Amino acid sequence: MTTPPATDMASVLRDSSLVVTCGPGGVGKTTTAAALALAAAETGRRVIVVTVDPARRLADTLGIDGSSANDPFEVTGAGRDGGELWAQMLDAQATFDRMILDRTDDPERARTILTNPIYRSIAGSLAGAQEYMAIERLHQLWSSGEWDLIVIDTPPSRHAIDLLEAPDRLVTFFGHPVYRVLTAPGRSLARVTNAGASAFLWAIRRLAGPQVVEDTIEFFRALAGIEAGLRQRAADTAAVLRSAGTSFVLVSSPRAEAIDEAVHLAEALRIGGYPLAATVVNLVHPTPTPIDADTLAALADIGDGPLADQLTFHRELSALADAETREIRTLRAHAGSTPLVEVPLLDDISDLAALAALGSLLTSGL
Ligand SMILES: Nc1ncnc2c1ncn2[C@@H]1O[C@H](COP(=O)(O)OP(=O)(O)OP(=O)(O)O)[C@@H](O)[C@H]1O
Ligand SMILES: [Mg+2]
Repeated sequence: MTTPPATDMASVLRDSSLVVTCGPGGVGKTTTAAALALAAAETGRRVIVVTVDPARRLADTLGIDGSSANDPFEVTGAGRDGGELWAQMLDAQATFDRMILDRTDDPERARTILTNPIYRSIAGSLAGAQEYMAIERLHQLWSSGEWDLIVIDTPPSRHAIDLLEAPDRLVTFFGHPVYRVLTAPGRSLARVTNAGASAFLWAIRRLAGPQVVEDTIEFFRALAGIEAGLRQRAADTAAVLRSAGTSFVLVSSPRAEAIDEAVHLAEALRIGGYPLAATVVNLVHPTPTPIDADTLAALADIGDGPLADQLTFHRELSALADAETREIRTLRAHAGSTPLVEVPLLDDISDLAALAALGSLLTSGL
């Protein structure tokens, strides 16, 4: 039996064990993730929010000081009725390292991977590494069983579906012919490079010297030892992301470009079988009170001056609000029966009280 979708954000928070905020760049994903996590902690749940690159003010609000980067810490002053809010920054490199350590039975093999210059240079910058690490970290938190609710923020992404494709991409990587050749047992460097299977390696060799090629092969071989574990983990993570307790919260601004990207992402979620539970349209401009026709007629010949400027401003703001309303309608069509919450442009969120106020806006619309 499937449960019907929640009709408001408070129910989404209450019924989920995992919330993933996603959406275009700069629309308030991280802020929304933190506000939703705080709201859930206020209802007595033990919550952790994993943020990616929070704005300075938000980092200060949560008490992130940089030194505690990859460890969860409790946000003081947050949570009621026994609820707690914990926060954690996502550090791709540190998560990658932890994954290698967790997955490698032989400490010597782990050390070989971690100290390999190729590993060091690609771990943080591999295409999709940030996205993959967000879900890798999620897997670690999920399996710990310590949390009532995990809120995962996602990195800004030009291709918004990167996050969702990351587990599949990892599996594809392991299936790549070059990877297969490099990790085949008994291959020596000479045979690999003579095999003509890797123009890639030849290029590196010419540019960087044979040692780097040896390092690369050694790295891939060491990785091969943990491949089965990684594949399993990628599959588990993909299953968790599609499970009943998971809620994707799509965040957008009402700007046309953001809405286009959000619509694209909503579609990708639907096709991939990921549960879109709610949509937030953030940074919405207020609609000015309309000026009645008689007043407008009386002001027709007003000429220049401060009142005329006010009128122009009013007209521009009304046009902007109308355009935003039209854009929001487009997104609403994709939200189906799931809740869509509009959040106005607020003063900067600079303390816990402001974050809590945003949380109330999101959960009760008040
Ligand atoms: N409703 C709002 N009113 C005013 N400012 C807001 C609102 N929501 C978010 N902001 C501000 O907008 C900025 C960007 O927010 P945030 O970092 O949450 O966006 P993001 O989507 O996570 O960005 P990125 O894609 O870069 O990760 C921050 O300075 C935040 O304080
Ligand atoms: Mg962010």
